Amino acid sequence: MKKLIFILPALLLLMSCQPKESGSGKNDMDAFVNDLMSKMTIQEKIGQLNLVTPGGGILTGSVVSTDVESKIKNGQVGGIFGVYGPEKTRQAQKLAVEESRLGIPMLFGSDVIHGYKTTFPLPLGLASSWDMKLIEKTAQIAAKEATADGIFWNFSPMVDISRDPRWGRISEGSGEDPYLGSQIARAMVKGYQQDDLTRSNTMMSTVKHFALYGASEAGRDYNTVDMSRLRMFNDYFPPYKAAVDEGVGCVMSSFNDVDGVPASGNKWLLTDVLRNQWGFDGFVVSDYTSVNEMIAHGMGDLQAVSALALKAGLDMDMVGEGFLTTLEKSLEEGKVSEADINLACRRVLEAKYKLGLFDDPYRYFDDARPAKDILTAENRKVAREAAARTMVLLKNEEQLLPLKKSGTIALVGPLVDSRNNMLGTWAPTGETRYAVTVKEGFENVVGESVNVLYAKGANISDDPEFAAKINVFGPKIDIDERSPEAMISEALAAAKKADVVVAVVGEATEMTGESSSRTDISLPECQKKLVRALAKTGKPLVVVNMSGRPMTIGEENELAGALLQVWHAGVETGNALADVIFGDYNPSGKLTATFPRNVGQIPIYYAMRNTGRPQDGEQFTKFKSNYLDVSNTPLFPFGYGLSYTSFEYKELVLDKSTLTNTDEIKVSVSVTNTGNFDGEEVVQLYVRDEVASITLPLRELKGFQKIFIPKGDTKEVVFTLRAGDLAFYHSDLSFSAEPGEFTVFVGGDSNASLSAKFSLE
Ligand code: BGC
Repeated sequence: MKKLIFILPALLLLMSCQPKESGSGKNDMDAFVNDLMSKMTIQEKIGQLNLVTPGGGILTGSVVSTDVESKIKNGQVGGIFGVYGPEKTRQAQKLAVEESRLGIPMLFGSDVIHGYKTTFPLPLGLASSWDMKLIEKTAQIAAKEATADGIFWNFSPMVDISRDPRWGRISEGSGEDPYLGSQIARAMVKGYQQDDLTRSNTMMSTVKHFALYGASEAGRDYNTVDMSRLRMFNDYFPPYKAAVDEGVGCVMSSFNDVDGVPASGNKWLLTDVLRNQWGFDGFVVSDYTSVNEMIAHGMGDLQAVSALALKAGLDMDMVGEGFLTTLEKSLEEGKVSEADINLACRRVLEAKYKLGLFDDPYRYFDDARPAKDILTAENRKVAREAAARTMVLLKNEEQLLPLKKSGTIALVGPLVDSRNNMLGTWAPTGETRYAVTVKEGFENVVGESVNVLYAKGANISDDPEFAAKINVFGPKIDIDERSPEAMISEALAAAKKADVVVAVVGEATEMTGESSSRTDISLPECQKKLVRALAKTGKPLVVVNMSGRPMTIGEENELAGALLQVWHAGVETGNALADVIFGDYNPSGKLTATFPRNVGQIPIYYAMRNTGRPQDGEQFTKFKSNYLDVSNTPLFPFGYGLSYTSFEYKELVLDKSTLTNTDEIKVSVSVTNTGNFDGEEVVQLYVRDEVASITLPLRELKGFQKIFIPKGDTKEVVFTLRAGDLAFYHSDLSFSAEPGEFTVFVGGDSNASLSAKFSLE
């Protein structure tokens, strides 16, 4: 209590000044933090830079913090993660506020990646909705639920661009495109923070992993990244910058190296770019033990790497305690300065100030809130809508889908009745028991009207060694006691009795995510066999692929009449899938990461630059840039996704042919729903800069609109382009558009063919 009294005068002063908006009251904040810091010892300042986890959540490193309670009391902890619920968080906060000398409250963090308890589709799926309002809403709900449980600092959004589906964490981001990725980064930060961190139902957002983590060589997690600065600035940095522009409170450094220096010790990255160029004014947290891991990167011993990180501009050390255990020594030896420590400490305290913790350190710990705010019917409704909107229809021959709500359906596959695999990777706060399985979803949506025959048909994988790697966080792959042949026979028996077969196949949730890279991204062999056997029956076959990444599913695409990409769609997966299969929702998702034909095509993405010897058409030609064994084209391109209806694009019109630096050009197109269903379409606009001082992508997304068009109707869609939209980073890293000829393409995917030309003066 003594400590509270100690800071009471400051609190009173603060309350009278009422700094109610984050970002405002800068003078008050400075005065408060100056005053507080004037009372802090160097050890207490270093203590603020220490982030601990007592264990219990998902632990992704080899260490967990020890002796957490006494460290909190000693003022050696600035933040904590992996503690949930108002009671536990309050207890922990009490230790800091009432038992440490200065009573400085702690930050309570967590990974709330795609929903808190109401788990939404994994981020790559959410991105496929191309619906920014929806994405913002999911983040807002996540913040409301998390704060109700005492968590107010989120390690999300993950905005790493990835063009390599071998990388398991491609599931956690928005895919391959910097423009779309930037819009999503903004929507998520906005959803979490709502421009107002003083509210008790918003949370501080952390953009991660800064930077380039999605470009790990060979798609292997944590691996080396080596990339030109041009590519960083043009293709990989934009989403991080967008989050900063949106006012994100925190940035997390990444595990990989950037231009030869690990991100966590990279001053160019964390200070020159992030703060000096982009104006970031929040704090930087390391990734899990990423400071310590610089030892393995060959940057020196713990003392050296900790000093390197601090001097680079990293403020808070996650779990590794290199700061806590070595910074004082480094100060004595002149390897860091007091000013370095002060700066980091100030940034952490400022975050606490912006969150209103000095007003009321217990503001998020309200015992009444969990029951009221978490996993409500209303939130689940949004989860169901979101899940349906993320599903991508990849093939639909002869309008096989939607299915009628009558007759007999064989619903087969290892993911039909697999509650443990619905939520998706990185859902540490979600609970699988709340997830709706596909089987249940079908029952809920068609009830008695359809005779549904179930069969597992195959294991997700038959390989016990592989299953063991996937099951580290609990059972995801269970290997049936029956032989693979017996399971297939059962599925075939069901198929023979049915009018149509729906096969739900794909990945277990932990086949993607952190440390879940794969070199073969096709279906496990036992599932391939199941699909082949089902196809042989000659019954109409719908293949539903659940995965956290683009997969090489060319064979399944050939065999199926309809193919639906479903990701891991969260707590309402089963209901939402049935909504789509039976046409209660007409799918509108579009891919945000290219599906390759085979692994050898990777990295593959739509925004390719031309070579000097571009392939002409799809045929192999000697001495052209192509492969002997496969065409350059992907299985499914970026932006692709079908609907139960069809859309026709016509009349692409530009309101002028010349754009200047001060005006804008309007690009309009008319889109007609020519099919038999009402539906939504994501109208996409791509631009090609025909001649430039550096090689540029053949086309780049510069705008999109998701619109609803009733059947038979036509809508005019108008985009506005300004010179700024055509700007890019040049060899000297200056940013501007270059005058010349441009082509715009508008259509329903990245192969959009309707085009028009204009010039920039
Ligand atoms: C992940 C981060 C995560 C952190 C804390 C790390 O392994 O890379 O994304 O925020 O763990 O859970």
